[in-house]
Amino acid sequence: MGVPTGRDGANSKIIPAPSASTDLAEGRRLRRVGLTATGGYVPDRILSNQDLEALVDTSDEWIVSRTGMRERRIVAPGEAASDLAVKAAERALEDSQLEAKDIELIIVATVTPDAICPPTACFVQEKLGVGPAAGFDISVACSGFANALSIGHNLIASGAFGNALVIGVDVLSAITDYQDRESCILFGDGAGAVVLEPEPGKGIILDHLLGIDGSGAEMIIVPAGGSRKPASHETVEAREHFLKLNGRQVFRFAVSKMREIVVELTKRNGMTVDDVDLFVPHQANLRIIESAAEKLNISEDRILVNIQKTGNTSAASIPMALDEAVRTNRLEPGNLVCTVAFGGGLSWGASLVRW
Ligand code: ACO
Repeated sequence: MGVPTGRDGANSKIIPAPSASTDLAEGRRLRRVGLTATGGYVPDRILSNQDLEALVDTSDEWIVSRTGMRERRIVAPGEAASDLAVKAAERALEDSQLEAKDIELIIVATVTPDAICPPTACFVQEKLGVGPAAGFDISVACSGFANALSIGHNLIASGAFGNALVIGVDVLSAITDYQDRESCILFGDGAGAVVLEPEPGKGIILDHLLGIDGSGAEMIIVPAGGSRKPASHETVEAREHFLKLNGRQVFRFAVSKMREIVVELTKRNGMTVDDVDLFVPHQANLRIIESAAEKLNISEDRILVNIQKTGNTSAASIPMALDEAVRTNRLEPGNLVCTVAFGGGLSWGASLVRW
């Protein structure tokens, strides 16, 4: 079970997982991949529910009861995704045996890159002093880290790279409309990073389940600023460069999809939901997490929740929560960890890691 399966997609056929000794076409063997270090970072500036009360018609009581959030962090003017990513990566590297110059591959999952071009991975590479290295960004909204982890896992398992720095980072405050009370209360900024190497580390990565469904593309969208509707005076006046959200629809999708993919991922690995020691869900709404947990019959003590102080940080949410689990000693050797995300796209992704 310690290798990638090549079965990325909730609706894809179930193909038997290759064993650790499976030969690739080139005659190389798939290697087991360890998650050897974690790091997380949030900016200093706190945006509390009380601060939001001053911006829109809302209340601390409404936000806490509907989302579980009390505060979130947002960047200072001029601070960008790569600044947060570098801080998280430095913390992960401090926790590893590697130095920045040893890193061979950087994958950055984000929907809020420093700029549309070049990739944020390039800014991270330069600022960290990584390399020579390969690197790229991927954009799968809140499911970005799940996809980045799967890609990093597979590229190391195949022998294409010797290690990877996988980062989830988002500066959602850059695309949040602080005049829209339904969405502006939800989002925060942050970064999380993990180091992957072809050997047992803190955790052995077992499997991933990924998927998208574009029929829900309009549910979470930034309408302007892309090639369909390039930014113009009109789009800015219409506030179309901010994220638009159909909260109720996303809520229903999230609860049912989280349940579905956790059941399928554990089942195809010969496990059950009861075998999982710690769930690390995307921190989008406490009620979503609690509803999914109730449907899966998971007790509170088996779920990592830090949404109270982070808000929804999109691609950063899961690696930040994973780092918190590590640093607060929530994990013991042998524990089974299941991360589970959903988000814009619509998209979803879950991973299993044996600690
Ligand atoms: N303060 C006070 N009242 C509010 C606020 C607010 N901030 N926002 C909405 N309301 C009002 C609504 O106007 C509505 O009033 P009405 O009944 O008079 O029409 C009422 O509260 C209830 O609104 P609902 O939409 O039913 O509230 P709900 O309980 O669904 O909570 C929320 C809304 C928090 C947005 C929830 O639906 C949610 O969290 N959805 C998921 C969003 C999400 O996580 N997206 C993740 C992806 S983001 C990404 O990918 C980057």
